[in-house]
Amino acid sequence: MKPRCLLPLTRRLSTRRELLSASTRRLLADTGASIPIVKGPMYPGSNPELVAAVSAAGGFGVVQPISLTHLYGYDFREGLRLIKSITSRPFGVNFTILENAKYKRQMEEWMDISVDEGVKFFLTSLGKPGKIVAFAERHGVKVYHDVHTPEVARKVADEGVAGLNCLNSSMGGQTGNRSVFTLTLTLT
Ligand SMILES: Cc1cc2nc3c(=O)[nH]c(=O)nc-3n(C[C@H](O)[C@H](O)[C@H](O)COP(=O)(O)O)c2cc1C
Repeated sequence: MKPRCLLPLTRRLSTRRELLSASTRRLLADTGASIPIVKGPMYPGSNPELVAAVSAAGGFGVVQPISLTHLYGYDFREGLRLIKSITSRPFGVNFTILENAKYKRQMEEWMDISVDEGVKFFLTSLGKPGKIVAFAERHGVKVYHDVHTPEVARKVADEGVAGLNCLNSSMGGQTGNRSVFTLTLTLT
Protein backbone atom coordinates (compact mmCIF):
# COMPACT_ATOMS: atom_id res chain seq x y z
CA MET A 1 0.00 0.00 0.00
CA LYS A 2 1.27 3.47 -0.84
CA PRO A 3 2.32 5.35 2.34
CA ARG A 4 0.08 8.30 3.05
CA CYS A 5 1.22 11.57 4.51
CA LEU A 6 -0.11 12.36 7.98
CA LEU A 7 -0.56 16.05 7.34
CA PRO A 8 -3.48 15.89 4.88
CA LEU A 9 -5.20 13.50 7.30
CA THR A 10 -4.73 15.86 10.22
CA ARG A 11 -5.93 18.77 8.09
CA ARG A 12 -9.05 16.83 7.21
CA LEU A 13 -9.55 16.01 10.88
CA SER A 14 -9.17 19.62 11.90
CA THR A 15 -11.88 20.68 9.49
CA ARG A 16 -14.23 17.75 10.30
CA ARG A 17 -14.68 18.14 14.04
CA GLU A 18 -17.97 16.28 13.96
CA LEU A 19 -15.96 13.12 13.24
CA LEU A 20 -14.09 13.44 16.54
CA SER A 21 -15.26 11.94 19.83
CA ALA A 22 -16.58 14.23 22.56
CA SER A 23 -13.43 13.64 24.64
CA THR A 24 -11.16 14.54 21.71
CA ARG A 25 -13.15 17.71 21.07
CA ARG A 26 -12.79 18.52 24.76
CA LEU A 27 -9.02 17.97 24.54
CA LEU A 28 -8.85 20.38 21.61
CA ALA A 29 -10.92 22.96 23.47
CA ASP A 30 -8.83 22.62 26.65
CA THR A 31 -5.46 22.81 24.89
CA GLY A 32 -6.29 25.16 22.01
CA ALA A 33 -4.71 22.69 19.56
CA SER A 34 -6.39 22.16 16.22
CA ILE A 35 -5.44 18.51 15.78
CA PRO A 36 -5.44 15.82 18.49
CA ILE A 37 -1.72 15.08 18.55
CA VAL A 38 0.17 15.77 21.78
CA LYS A 39 3.92 15.75 22.22
CA GLY A 40 4.06 14.62 25.82
CA PRO A 41 6.73 16.03 28.13
CA MET A 42 9.87 13.93 28.02
CA TYR A 43 12.95 14.04 30.13
CA PRO A 44 15.31 14.34 28.30
CA GLY A 45 13.67 14.65 24.88
CA SER A 46 11.71 17.91 25.15
CA ASN A 47 13.80 20.62 23.57
CA PRO A 48 12.00 23.93 22.98
CA GLU A 49 12.24 23.69 19.19
CA LEU A 50 10.38 20.34 19.27
CA VAL A 51 7.65 21.72 21.55
CA ALA A 52 7.26 24.71 19.21
CA ALA A 53 7.27 22.58 16.05
CA VAL A 54 4.45 20.34 17.28
CA SER A 55 2.32 23.29 18.35
CA ALA A 56 3.09 25.18 15.14
CA ALA A 57 1.83 22.16 13.15
CA GLY A 58 -1.52 22.32 14.99
CA GLY A 59 -0.76 19.72 17.67
CA PHE A 60 0.15 20.44 21.26
CA GLY A 61 3.70 20.54 22.59
CA VAL A 62 4.30 20.18 26.32
CA VAL A 63 7.44 21.56 27.99
CA GLN A 64 9.38 19.47 30.49
CA PRO A 65 10.84 22.22 32.73
CA ILE A 66 13.81 20.23 34.06
CA SER A 67 14.83 19.35 30.50
CA LEU A 68 14.39 22.95 29.41
CA THR A 69 16.52 24.40 32.20
CA HIS A 70 18.97 21.80 33.46
CA LEU A 71 19.54 19.84 30.27
CA TYR A 72 19.15 22.42 27.50
CA GLY A 73 20.44 25.20 29.72
CA TYR A 74 17.71 27.84 29.26
CA ASP A 75 16.52 30.19 31.91
CA PHE A 76 12.89 28.97 32.25
CA ARG A 77 11.28 32.23 31.10
CA GLU A 78 13.74 32.63 28.21
CA GLY A 79 12.99 29.04 27.13
CA LEU A 80 9.25 29.76 27.05
CA ARG A 81 9.95 32.95 25.13
CA LEU A 82 12.03 31.03 22.61
CA ILE A 83 9.02 28.76 21.96
CA LYS A 84 6.80 31.83 21.65
CA SER A 85 9.25 33.35 19.16
CA ILE A 86 8.85 30.27 16.94
CA THR A 87 5.08 29.88 17.18
CA SER A 88 2.11 31.83 18.41
CA ARG A 89 0.18 28.57 18.89
CA PRO A 90 -0.51 27.36 22.44
CA PHE A 91 1.70 24.90 24.31
CA GLY A 92 1.63 23.40 27.81
CA VAL A 93 3.99 22.88 30.73
CA ASN A 94 4.49 19.67 32.72
CA PHE A 95 4.87 19.69 36.49
CA THR A 96 6.05 16.54 38.18
CA ILE A 97 4.85 16.80 41.78
CA LEU A 98 7.59 15.86 44.24
CA GLU A 99 7.67 16.41 47.99
CA ASN A 100 11.12 17.99 48.05
CA ALA A 101 10.96 21.51 49.58
CA LYS A 102 13.62 23.04 47.30
CA TYR A 103 12.05 21.52 44.18
CA LYS A 104 8.58 22.68 45.32
CA ARG A 105 9.76 26.30 45.55
CA GLN A 106 11.29 25.98 42.10
CA MET A 107 8.07 24.47 40.72
CA GLU A 108 5.98 27.31 42.18
CA GLU A 109 8.28 29.85 40.56
CA TRP A 110 7.96 28.01 37.22
CA MET A 111 4.17 27.99 37.60
CA ASP A 112 4.14 31.77 38.16
CA ILE A 113 6.37 32.34 35.14
CA SER A 114 4.25 30.01 32.99
CA VAL A 115 1.12 31.99 33.81
CA ASP A 116 2.97 35.24 33.26
CA GLU A 117 4.03 34.03 29.81
CA GLY A 118 0.45 33.11 28.89
CA VAL A 119 0.54 29.32 29.31
CA LYS A 120 -3.01 27.97 29.69
CA PHE A 121 -2.41 24.25 30.18
CA PHE A 122 -0.50 22.26 32.81
CA LEU A 123 0.06 18.52 32.65
CA THR A 124 0.87 17.24 36.14
CA SER A 125 2.34 13.90 37.06
CA LEU A 126 2.80 11.95 40.32
CA GLY A 127 1.64 13.37 43.68
CA LYS A 128 -1.56 15.21 44.49
CA PRO A 129 -2.51 17.95 42.01
CA GLY A 130 -5.14 19.73 44.22
CA LYS A 131 -3.01 22.78 45.08
CA ILE A 132 -1.92 23.19 41.48
CA VAL A 133 -5.55 22.95 40.37
CA ALA A 134 -6.49 25.73 42.84
CA PHE A 135 -3.66 27.92 41.52
CA ALA A 136 -4.56 27.10 37.92
CA GLU A 137 -8.24 27.93 38.39
CA ARG A 138 -7.30 31.42 39.59
CA HIS A 139 -5.39 31.93 36.33
CA GLY A 140 -7.68 30.26 33.80
CA VAL A 141 -5.31 27.32 33.31
CA LYS A 142 -6.55 23.77 32.61
CA VAL A 143 -4.84 20.93 34.49
CA TYR A 144 -4.69 17.35 33.23
CA HIS A 145 -2.95 14.67 35.31
CA ASP A 146 -1.06 11.52 34.28
CA VAL A 147 -2.80 8.39 35.59
CA HIS A 148 -2.01 4.73 35.13
CA THR A 149 -4.72 3.04 37.26
CA PRO A 150 -8.46 3.63 37.80
CA GLU A 151 -7.75 4.21 41.53
CA VAL A 152 -5.35 7.07 40.84
CA ALA A 153 -7.74 8.42 38.21
CA ARG A 154 -10.58 8.63 40.74
CA LYS A 155 -8.40 10.30 43.35
CA VAL A 156 -7.12 13.01 41.04
CA ALA A 157 -10.58 13.54 39.53
CA ASP A 158 -11.74 14.31 43.08
CA GLU A 159 -8.99 16.93 43.28
CA GLY A 160 -10.61 18.79 40.40
CA VAL A 161 -8.38 18.14 37.39
CA ALA A 162 -10.01 18.94 34.05
CA GLY A 163 -8.74 15.79 32.34
CA LEU A 164 -6.68 12.62 32.61
CA ASN A 165 -3.70 11.54 30.56
CA CYS A 166 -4.20 7.77 30.69
CA LEU A 167 -0.85 6.00 30.67
CA ASN A 168 -1.44 2.63 29.07
CA SER A 169 0.46 -0.44 27.96
CA SER A 170 1.23 0.93 24.51
CA MET A 171 2.70 4.21 25.70
CA GLY A 172 6.26 5.10 24.74
CA GLY A 173 9.04 4.26 27.14
CA GLN A 174 7.28 3.88 30.46
CA THR A 175 5.26 1.47 32.53
CA GLY A 176 1.51 1.69 31.99
CA ASN A 177 0.31 -1.90 32.34
CA ARG A 178 -3.33 -1.74 31.27
CA SER A 179 -4.43 -1.63 27.65
CA VAL A 180 -6.16 1.49 26.38
CA PHE A 181 -9.33 -0.59 26.15
CA THR A 182 -9.17 -1.87 29.76
CA LEU A 183 -8.27 1.51 31.19
CA THR A 184 -11.00 3.29 29.26
CA LEU A 185 -13.61 0.69 30.19
CA THR A 186 -12.81 0.88 33.90
CA LEU A 187 -12.99 4.66 33.83
CA THR A 188 -16.31 5.06 32.07
C1 LIG B 1 11.61 9.10 27.32
C2 LIG B 1 10.34 9.56 27.96
C3 LIG B 1 10.40 10.49 28.97
C4 LIG B 1 9.22 10.94 29.59
N1 LIG B 1 9.30 11.91 30.55
C5 LIG B 1 8.16 12.38 31.11
C6 LIG B 1 8.22 13.44 32.06
O1 LIG B 1 9.27 13.97 32.38
N2 LIG B 1 7.04 13.86 32.61
C7 LIG B 1 5.85 13.29 32.28
O2 LIG B 1 4.82 13.69 32.83
N3 LIG B 1 5.77 12.30 31.35
C8 LIG B 1 6.89 11.84 30.77
N4 LIG B 1 6.80 10.85 29.82
C9 LIG B 1 5.48 10.37 29.40
C10 LIG B 1 5.05 11.04 28.09
O3 LIG B 1 4.93 12.44 28.25
C11 LIG B 1 3.71 10.51 27.60
O4 LIG B 1 2.68 10.79 28.50
C12 LIG B 1 3.75 9.01 27.38
O5 LIG B 1 4.92 8.65 26.69
C13 LIG B 1 2.50 8.52 26.65
O6 LIG B 1 2.44 9.03 25.35
P1 LIG B 1 2.74 8.10 24.06
O7 LIG B 1 1.73 7.02 24.10
O8 LIG B 1 2.58 9.03 22.91
O9 LIG B 1 4.15 7.60 24.23
C14 LIG B 1 7.96 10.40 29.20
C15 LIG B 1 7.93 9.45 28.17
C16 LIG B 1 9.08 9.04 27.56
C17 LIG B 1 8.98 8.02 26.45
